[in-house]
Amino acid sequence: MNELEEAVNPVKPPPLMPGLKVAVLGAGKMGGILLQGFLKNHLLSADQVVATVQHADRAMALSAQFGMTVTTGNLEAAGWADVVLLGVKPVQVPALIAEIQPALTPAKVVLSFAASVTTASIEQAAGCDLAVIRAMPNTPAMISAGVTALCAGRFASAQQMAVAQRIFSTVGRTVVVDEKHMDAVTGLSGSGPAFLYIVIEALAEAGVNVGLPRDVATLLAAQTTLGSARMVLETGYHPALLKDQVTTPAGCTVDGILELEEGGLRVTLIKAVKRATARAKELAGEKK
Ligand SMILES: NC(=O)c1ccc[n+]([C@@H]2O[C@H](COP(=O)([O-])OP(=O)(O)OC[C@H]3O[C@@H](n4cnc5c(N)ncnc54)[C@H](OP(=O)(O)O)[C@@H]3O)[C@@H](O)[C@H]2O)c1
Repeated sequence: MNELEEAVNPVKPPPLMPGLKVAVLGAGKMGGILLQGFLKNHLLSADQVVATVQHADRAMALSAQFGMTVTTGNLEAAGWADVVLLGVKPVQVPALIAEIQPALTPAKVVLSFAASVTTASIEQAAGCDLAVIRAMPNTPAMISAGVTALCAGRFASAQQMAVAQRIFSTVGRTVVVDEKHMDAVTGLSGSGPAFLYIVIEALAEAGVNVGLPRDVATLLAAQTTLGSARMVLETGYHPALLKDQVTTPAGCTVDGILELEEGGLRVTLIKAVKRATARAKELAGEKK
Protein backbone atom coordinates (compact mmCIF):
# COMPACT_ATOMS: atom_id res chain seq x y z
CA MET A 1 0.00 0.00 0.00
CA ASN A 2 1.44 3.41 -0.95
CA GLU A 3 1.15 6.56 1.19
CA LEU A 4 -1.89 7.89 -0.67
CA GLU A 5 -3.80 4.57 -0.36
CA GLU A 6 -2.84 4.41 3.30
CA ALA A 7 -4.23 7.93 3.89
CA VAL A 8 -7.55 6.96 2.25
CA ASN A 9 -7.74 3.45 3.77
CA PRO A 10 -5.69 3.56 6.96
CA VAL A 11 -4.49 0.13 8.13
CA LYS A 12 -6.33 -0.89 11.29
CA PRO A 13 -3.94 -1.86 14.07
CA PRO A 14 -4.41 -5.41 15.35
CA PRO A 15 -6.72 -5.79 18.37
CA LEU A 16 -5.04 -5.44 21.76
CA MET A 17 -6.89 -8.50 23.09
CA PRO A 18 -6.91 -10.86 20.11
CA GLY A 19 -9.07 -13.97 20.33
CA LEU A 20 -11.22 -12.72 23.24
CA LYS A 21 -14.95 -12.93 22.49
CA VAL A 22 -17.12 -10.35 24.25
CA ALA A 23 -20.91 -10.02 24.38
CA VAL A 24 -22.61 -6.85 25.62
CA LEU A 25 -26.16 -7.75 26.63
CA GLY A 26 -28.09 -4.47 26.78
CA ALA A 27 -26.28 -2.05 24.50
CA GLY A 28 -28.14 1.07 25.62
CA LYS A 29 -26.54 4.38 26.54
CA MET A 30 -23.73 2.98 28.74
CA GLY A 31 -23.32 -0.29 26.83
CA GLY A 32 -23.16 1.59 23.52
CA ILE A 33 -20.51 3.97 24.88
CA LEU A 34 -18.37 1.03 26.09
CA LEU A 35 -18.77 -0.89 22.83
CA GLN A 36 -17.75 2.08 20.73
CA GLY A 37 -14.79 2.68 23.05
CA PHE A 38 -13.61 -0.93 22.70
CA LEU A 39 -13.80 -0.74 18.90
CA LYS A 40 -12.42 2.79 18.48
CA ASN A 41 -9.45 2.09 20.74
CA HIS A 42 -8.74 -1.25 19.00
CA LEU A 43 -9.19 -3.31 22.14
CA LEU A 44 -11.28 -5.72 20.10
CA SER A 45 -12.10 -6.07 16.41
CA ALA A 46 -15.74 -5.99 15.29
CA ASP A 47 -15.83 -9.79 14.83
CA GLN A 48 -14.83 -10.25 18.48
CA VAL A 49 -17.94 -8.47 19.79
CA VAL A 50 -21.65 -9.18 19.76
CA ALA A 51 -24.26 -6.93 21.37
CA THR A 52 -27.92 -7.37 22.17
CA VAL A 53 -30.85 -5.03 22.82
CA GLN A 54 -34.53 -5.63 23.53
CA HIS A 55 -36.04 -4.30 20.30
CA ALA A 56 -35.29 -5.83 16.89
CA ASP A 57 -35.53 -2.49 15.03
CA ARG A 58 -32.95 -0.94 17.37
CA ALA A 59 -30.71 -3.98 16.90
CA MET A 60 -30.75 -3.41 13.13
CA ALA A 61 -30.02 0.31 13.46
CA LEU A 62 -27.16 -0.26 15.92
CA SER A 63 -25.69 -3.03 13.79
CA ALA A 64 -25.41 -0.59 10.89
CA GLN A 65 -24.12 2.21 13.14
CA PHE A 66 -21.42 0.14 14.90
CA GLY A 67 -20.55 -2.15 11.95
CA MET A 68 -20.91 -5.28 14.10
CA THR A 69 -23.45 -7.93 15.06
CA VAL A 70 -26.29 -6.60 17.21
CA THR A 71 -29.22 -8.94 17.83
CA THR A 72 -31.96 -9.70 20.35
CA GLY A 73 -30.59 -13.20 21.00
CA ASN A 74 -29.16 -13.09 24.52
CA LEU A 75 -28.72 -16.84 24.97
CA GLU A 76 -26.87 -17.28 21.70
CA ALA A 77 -24.61 -14.26 22.40
CA ALA A 78 -23.83 -15.46 25.93
CA GLY A 79 -23.09 -18.98 24.64
CA TRP A 80 -20.64 -17.61 22.05
CA ALA A 81 -18.73 -15.18 24.29
CA ASP A 82 -15.90 -15.68 26.80
CA VAL A 83 -16.80 -12.45 28.64
CA VAL A 84 -20.46 -11.48 29.01
CA LEU A 85 -21.15 -7.85 29.93
CA LEU A 86 -24.56 -7.12 31.47
CA GLY A 87 -25.81 -3.64 30.61
CA VAL A 88 -29.56 -3.81 31.18
CA LYS A 89 -31.38 -1.86 33.90
CA PRO A 90 -30.97 -3.29 37.43
CA VAL A 91 -34.58 -4.60 37.56
CA GLN A 92 -34.06 -6.41 34.25
CA VAL A 93 -31.00 -8.37 35.43
CA PRO A 94 -32.79 -11.34 37.09
CA ALA A 95 -34.85 -12.09 33.95
CA LEU A 96 -31.76 -11.76 31.76
CA ILE A 97 -29.74 -14.17 33.96
CA ALA A 98 -32.63 -16.65 33.87
CA GLU A 99 -32.67 -16.41 30.07
CA ILE A 100 -28.93 -16.99 29.60
CA GLN A 101 -28.53 -19.44 32.50
CA PRO A 102 -28.09 -22.51 30.21
CA ALA A 103 -25.03 -20.81 28.65
CA LEU A 104 -23.39 -19.90 31.96
CA THR A 105 -20.45 -22.16 32.87
CA PRO A 106 -17.44 -21.63 35.16
CA ALA A 107 -15.38 -21.06 31.98
CA LYS A 108 -17.09 -17.70 31.39
CA VAL A 109 -16.76 -14.34 33.08
CA VAL A 110 -19.90 -12.29 33.67
CA LEU A 111 -19.10 -8.61 34.02
CA SER A 112 -22.11 -6.66 35.23
CA PHE A 113 -22.18 -2.89 35.09
CA ALA A 114 -25.76 -2.65 36.33
CA ALA A 115 -26.03 -0.39 39.37
CA SER A 116 -27.11 -1.95 42.63
CA VAL A 117 -27.01 -5.62 41.52
CA THR A 118 -24.67 -7.67 43.73
CA THR A 119 -22.26 -10.33 42.51
CA ALA A 120 -23.83 -12.78 45.01
CA SER A 121 -27.29 -12.36 43.44
CA ILE A 122 -25.87 -13.12 39.98
CA GLU A 123 -23.86 -16.12 41.24
CA GLN A 124 -26.95 -17.49 42.96
CA ALA A 125 -29.13 -17.08 39.87
CA ALA A 126 -26.45 -18.66 37.66
CA GLY A 127 -26.48 -21.82 39.75
CA CYS A 128 -22.80 -22.66 39.20
CA ASP A 129 -19.39 -21.41 40.41
CA LEU A 130 -19.57 -18.51 37.96
CA ALA A 131 -16.87 -15.83 37.82
CA VAL A 132 -18.81 -12.60 38.34
CA ILE A 133 -17.22 -9.15 38.34
CA ARG A 134 -19.19 -6.01 39.12
CA ALA A 135 -18.23 -2.72 37.50
CA MET A 136 -19.42 0.86 37.76
CA PRO A 137 -18.26 2.91 34.75
CA ASN A 138 -19.35 6.44 33.85
CA THR A 139 -20.27 8.24 30.64
CA PRO A 140 -16.96 10.12 30.05
CA ALA A 141 -15.84 6.66 28.88
CA MET A 142 -17.13 8.00 25.54
CA ILE A 143 -13.93 10.04 25.20
CA SER A 144 -11.73 7.53 27.08
CA ALA A 145 -11.86 9.79 30.15
CA GLY A 146 -14.10 7.59 32.25
CA VAL A 147 -13.44 5.96 35.59
CA THR A 148 -14.61 2.46 36.42
CA ALA A 149 -14.65 0.86 39.85
CA LEU A 150 -14.48 -2.93 39.85
CA CYS A 151 -14.96 -5.62 42.46
CA ALA A 152 -14.69 -9.38 42.28
CA GLY A 153 -17.35 -11.90 43.15
CA ARG A 154 -16.59 -15.12 45.07
CA PHE A 155 -15.42 -17.15 42.09
CA ALA A 156 -13.56 -14.52 40.04
CA SER A 157 -9.80 -15.10 39.92
CA ALA A 158 -7.08 -12.43 40.01
CA GLN A 159 -6.40 -13.18 36.34
CA GLN A 160 -10.07 -12.63 35.43
CA MET A 161 -10.02 -9.34 37.38
CA ALA A 162 -6.93 -8.33 35.43
CA VAL A 163 -8.80 -9.00 32.17
CA ALA A 164 -11.73 -6.87 33.40
CA GLN A 165 -9.37 -4.04 34.37
CA ARG A 166 -7.69 -4.26 30.97
CA ILE A 167 -11.09 -4.03 29.24
CA PHE A 168 -12.22 -0.98 31.21
CA SER A 169 -8.84 0.77 31.13
CA THR A 170 -9.46 1.19 27.39
CA VAL A 171 -12.07 3.82 28.23
CA GLY A 172 -10.39 5.53 31.20
CA ARG A 173 -9.02 4.80 34.63
CA THR A 174 -9.92 1.83 36.78
CA VAL A 175 -9.98 1.32 40.52
CA VAL A 176 -10.59 -1.90 42.46
CA VAL A 177 -12.82 -1.54 45.51
CA ASP A 178 -14.52 -3.76 48.03
CA GLU A 179 -18.07 -4.59 46.92
CA LYS A 180 -19.52 -2.81 49.99
CA HIS A 181 -18.41 0.48 48.36
CA MET A 182 -20.07 -0.05 44.98
CA ASP A 183 -23.27 1.89 45.77
CA ALA A 184 -21.15 4.81 47.03
CA VAL A 185 -19.14 4.68 43.79
CA THR A 186 -22.44 4.77 41.90
CA GLY A 187 -23.49 7.88 43.84
CA LEU A 188 -20.15 9.63 43.32
CA SER A 189 -18.58 8.78 39.95
CA GLY A 190 -21.54 7.02 38.27
CA SER A 191 -23.92 9.94 38.86
CA GLY A 192 -21.13 12.51 39.23
CA PRO A 193 -20.92 13.60 35.58
CA ALA A 194 -24.52 14.85 35.81
CA PHE A 195 -23.70 16.86 38.95
CA LEU A 196 -20.63 18.39 37.32
CA TYR A 197 -22.48 19.26 34.09
CA ILE A 198 -24.84 21.30 36.27
CA VAL A 199 -21.85 23.05 37.88
CA ILE A 200 -20.37 23.79 34.43
CA GLU A 201 -23.74 24.93 33.10
CA ALA A 202 -24.15 27.25 36.09
CA LEU A 203 -20.63 28.70 35.72
CA ALA A 204 -21.29 29.33 32.02
CA GLU A 205 -24.62 30.95 32.86
CA ALA A 206 -22.78 33.13 35.37
CA GLY A 207 -20.31 34.13 32.67
CA VAL A 208 -23.20 35.19 30.43
CA ASN A 209 -24.66 37.08 33.37
CA VAL A 210 -21.47 39.14 33.75
CA GLY A 211 -21.41 39.88 30.02
CA LEU A 212 -19.45 37.12 28.27
CA PRO A 213 -20.66 35.60 24.99
CA ARG A 214 -22.20 32.15 25.72
CA ASP A 215 -19.68 30.15 23.69
CA VAL A 216 -16.75 31.86 25.42
CA ALA A 217 -18.37 31.42 28.84
CA THR A 218 -18.98 27.68 28.21
CA LEU A 219 -15.41 27.16 27.01
CA LEU A 220 -14.00 29.00 30.05
CA ALA A 221 -16.23 27.05 32.46
CA ALA A 222 -15.51 23.62 30.96
CA GLN A 223 -11.76 24.09 30.48
CA THR A 224 -11.45 25.51 34.00
CA THR A 225 -13.20 22.40 35.37
CA LEU A 226 -10.97 20.12 33.30
CA GLY A 227 -7.79 21.97 34.30
CA SER A 228 -8.72 21.97 37.98
CA ALA A 229 -9.47 18.23 37.91
CA ARG A 230 -6.13 17.56 36.21
CA MET A 231 -4.34 19.67 38.85
CA VAL A 232 -5.81 17.46 41.60
CA LEU A 233 -4.87 14.26 39.76
CA GLU A 234 -1.46 15.29 38.47
CA THR A 235 -0.05 17.27 41.41
CA GLY A 236 -1.49 14.99 44.08
CA TYR A 237 -2.10 18.09 46.22
CA HIS A 238 -5.15 18.31 48.43
CA PRO A 239 -7.92 20.33 46.69
CA ALA A 240 -7.94 22.77 49.63
CA LEU A 241 -4.26 23.61 49.05
CA LEU A 242 -4.90 24.19 45.34
CA LYS A 243 -7.86 26.41 46.24
CA ASP A 244 -5.62 28.45 48.57
CA GLN A 245 -3.24 29.12 45.64
CA VAL A 246 -6.08 30.94 43.85
CA THR A 247 -7.29 32.82 46.90
CA THR A 248 -5.39 36.10 47.38
CA PRO A 249 -6.06 37.80 50.75
CA ALA A 250 -8.79 40.41 50.30
CA GLY A 251 -8.98 39.47 46.61
CA CYS A 252 -11.98 38.64 44.44
CA THR A 253 -11.86 34.80 44.76
CA VAL A 254 -12.36 34.83 48.51
CA ASP A 255 -15.47 36.98 48.02
CA GLY A 256 -16.77 34.40 45.55
CA ILE A 257 -16.01 31.57 47.98
CA LEU A 258 -18.03 33.34 50.68
CA GLU A 259 -21.03 33.30 48.34
CA LEU A 260 -20.50 29.58 47.63
CA GLU A 261 -20.38 28.78 51.34
CA GLU A 262 -23.48 30.90 52.05
CA GLY A 263 -25.29 29.21 49.19
CA GLY A 264 -24.38 25.80 50.58
CA LEU A 265 -22.64 24.42 47.48
CA ARG A 266 -20.39 22.15 49.53
CA VAL A 267 -23.22 20.71 51.65
CA THR A 268 -25.49 20.41 48.63
CA LEU A 269 -22.93 18.32 46.72
CA ILE A 270 -22.38 16.09 49.75
CA LYS A 271 -26.14 15.60 50.07
CA ALA A 272 -26.48 14.87 46.34
CA VAL A 273 -23.92 12.04 46.51
CA LYS A 274 -25.51 10.69 49.72
CA ARG A 275 -28.98 10.68 48.12
CA ALA A 276 -27.71 9.03 44.92
CA THR A 277 -25.88 6.39 47.00
CA ALA A 278 -29.02 5.65 49.02
CA ARG A 279 -31.04 5.35 45.81
CA ALA A 280 -28.42 3.00 44.32
CA LYS A 281 -29.03 0.63 47.24
CA GLU A 282 -32.73 0.39 46.30
CA LEU A 283 -32.64 -0.11 42.53
CA ALA A 284 -32.00 -3.87 42.33
CA GLY A 285 -34.84 -4.62 44.76
CA GLU A 286 -37.53 -2.82 42.76
CA LYS A 287 -40.35 -4.56 40.95
CA LYS A 288 -40.21 -4.48 37.15
N1 LIG B 1 -26.13 5.75 32.00
C1 LIG B 1 -25.11 5.80 32.87
O1 LIG B 1 -24.50 6.86 33.10
C2 LIG B 1 -24.66 4.54 33.57
C3 LIG B 1 -23.43 4.54 34.26
C4 LIG B 1 -23.02 3.36 34.89
C5 LIG B 1 -23.83 2.22 34.87
N2 LIG B 1 -25.02 2.28 34.23
C6 LIG B 1 -25.86 1.05 34.23
O2 LIG B 1 -26.02 0.64 32.89
C7 LIG B 1 -27.28 -0.03 32.78
C8 LIG B 1 -28.03 0.56 31.59
O3 LIG B 1 -28.23 1.92 31.79
P1 LIG B 1 -28.42 2.88 30.52
O4 LIG B 1 -28.45 4.25 31.07
O5 LIG B 1 -27.47 2.51 29.46
O6 LIG B 1 -29.92 2.45 30.11
P2 LIG B 1 -30.56 2.24 28.66
O7 LIG B 1 -30.01 3.25 27.72
O8 LIG B 1 -32.03 2.18 28.87
O9 LIG B 1 -30.03 0.82 28.21
C9 LIG B 1 -30.65 -0.39 28.53
C10 LIG B 1 -30.52 -1.29 27.32
O10 LIG B 1 -30.94 -2.60 27.69
C11 LIG B 1 -31.64 -3.13 26.60
N3 LIG B 1 -32.46 -4.24 27.09
C12 LIG B 1 -33.54 -4.20 27.89
N4 LIG B 1 -34.00 -5.44 28.11
C13 LIG B 1 -33.19 -6.28 27.43
C14 LIG B 1 -33.15 -7.67 27.24
N5 LIG B 1 -34.02 -8.49 27.82
N6 LIG B 1 -32.17 -8.20 26.46
C15 LIG B 1 -31.25 -7.40 25.86
N7 LIG B 1 -31.23 -6.05 26.00
C16 LIG B 1 -32.20 -5.51 26.76
C17 LIG B 1 -32.43 -2.00 26.03
O11 LIG B 1 -32.80 -2.34 24.69
P3 LIG B 1 -33.64 -1.33 23.73
O12 LIG B 1 -32.65 -0.29 23.32
O13 LIG B 1 -34.06 -2.19 22.59
O14 LIG B 1 -34.76 -0.81 24.55
C18 LIG B 1 -31.39 -0.86 26.14
O15 LIG B 1 -30.61 -0.82 24.98
C19 LIG B 1 -28.03 0.17 34.09
O16 LIG B 1 -28.01 -1.02 34.85
C20 LIG B 1 -27.25 1.27 34.79
O17 LIG B 1 -27.27 1.11 36.20
C21 LIG B 1 -25.45 3.38 33.55
